[in-house]
Amino acid sequence: MSKLSTDDILTKDAHLIQSFANLDGLKQNDTRTAIVSAKGAYVTDSDGNELLDGIGGLWCVNVGHGRHEIIEAITKQLETLDYYSTFYNFTHPSAVLLAEKLASLAPGNLNRVYFSNSGSVANDTAIRMLHHYNNRLGRPKKKKILSRIGAYHGSTHLAMALTTPAYSDGWDTAAQGLVHHLRAPYAYREAGEMSEAEFLEVLADDMRATINDIGAENIAAFIAEPIMGAGGILVAPEGYHQRMRQITAEHDIKYIADEVVTAFGRLGHMFASEDVFGMVPDIITTAKGLTSGYQPLSATIISDEIYDVISEPGAMFLHGMTYSGHPAASAAALANIDILEREKIPQKVQVTGKVFENALRGLDDLDIVGDVRGSHFMMGVEFVKNKTTKEPFDDEVNIGLRIAQETQNRGLIARPLGNILILSPTLIMDENQIAQIEGTLRESIKAVAASLVG
Ligand SMILES: Cc1ncc(COP(=O)(O)O)c(C=O)c1O
Repeated sequence: MSKLSTDDILTKDAHLIQSFANLDGLKQNDTRTAIVSAKGAYVTDSDGNELLDGIGGLWCVNVGHGRHEIIEAITKQLETLDYYSTFYNFTHPSAVLLAEKLASLAPGNLNRVYFSNSGSVANDTAIRMLHHYNNRLGRPKKKKILSRIGAYHGSTHLAMALTTPAYSDGWDTAAQGLVHHLRAPYAYREAGEMSEAEFLEVLADDMRATINDIGAENIAAFIAEPIMGAGGILVAPEGYHQRMRQITAEHDIKYIADEVVTAFGRLGHMFASEDVFGMVPDIITTAKGLTSGYQPLSATIISDEIYDVISEPGAMFLHGMTYSGHPAASAAALANIDILEREKIPQKVQVTGKVFENALRGLDDLDIVGDVRGSHFMMGVEFVKNKTTKEPFDDEVNIGLRIAQETQNRGLIARPLGNILILSPTLIMDENQIAQIEGTLRESIKAVAASLVG
């Protein structure tokens, strides 16, 4: 591919529809950045600026950019078998090796894997499977799904219905009436003077009351991210997932853990559900860190119990994607998991992730920082106009975006999300890079705060 100048790229970019973007705003201004290359923890833009990748691509480049082992595995795979499907009676080595590997890493009896190409489709797949499961068990009414305000589960019609209503403002979702949103575990804004334990009780009551209202006989599943990501890095109170697991299990409601972000080392373990939160769900969906973003791949990992029902004699699995278990994507995932294991990246994250978390928590002394939350390499900073009253900035201030622009001018990519800034870097950060992130954030926040006063 010939080298394009920044102007060329931004002119041609008029044909590309960006995701979650103010498309009209993009026509009016030039705030876009073209990333042209990447290595390790850094990316380079089309003007030659090297930027520390504070968001790991899109919380996905867990092992860092430009890893030759993954690139070679993809190339080798394509030279041997470029494509074949996993439809009907066909299968191929890289997909089966990866399915076996995921079954060995996933907790409990989660031993059966369906591959897709995005987290959205992994979640759609989980719901389709559970609906079919309940049909087979003679419970055709047991179909509704409990999700949560603030959740992000993807952008297909069904995954968007699972996502918080705020993300589909002005857009339709295919599954009106199918999904009920429970309260968000948003302690900073919703717990008030409550202790963590009291807030947990409120959330548990909300779950119980909802099940009571809708009727357990109408509810197929509860879907939850271990830590809510795009909803603003919301960490539920201690014991929340175990409690929700217990309540849903009492009502024969399946628990889907959406580990699209939290798996493959981001919280210091391959999967967070059991190792971090002490809970084995019925289904885990995952994507992103599965290949560290080198290839599009996701997985829906289901329990033997669900599999046994949907694979009974006479059952037909009427679900399929052309690229399910694509050879190159599966090869990328195997090489990626090999790096994670060989270099003990999750174990290292247990140390460096805590250094990162603590460094960011230190920003709490700044006047406009209301809350710093998250865990390991999944962190968010919420900005407020008034620290005591927690009064938020007006939307027009665009506080998150302004601070992200400042950090980028200083060589750090961070992700704005309204009044929140998200940091989810590659997992190979060393202490110098962590200090660089903290220092850049501090300077940038101070500069924006000063500009607001002036
Ligand atoms: C928790 C979670 N689930 C699902 C998705 C959807 O994944 P994808 O964008 O690959 O469809 C995302 C994407 O950010 C996510 O964060």
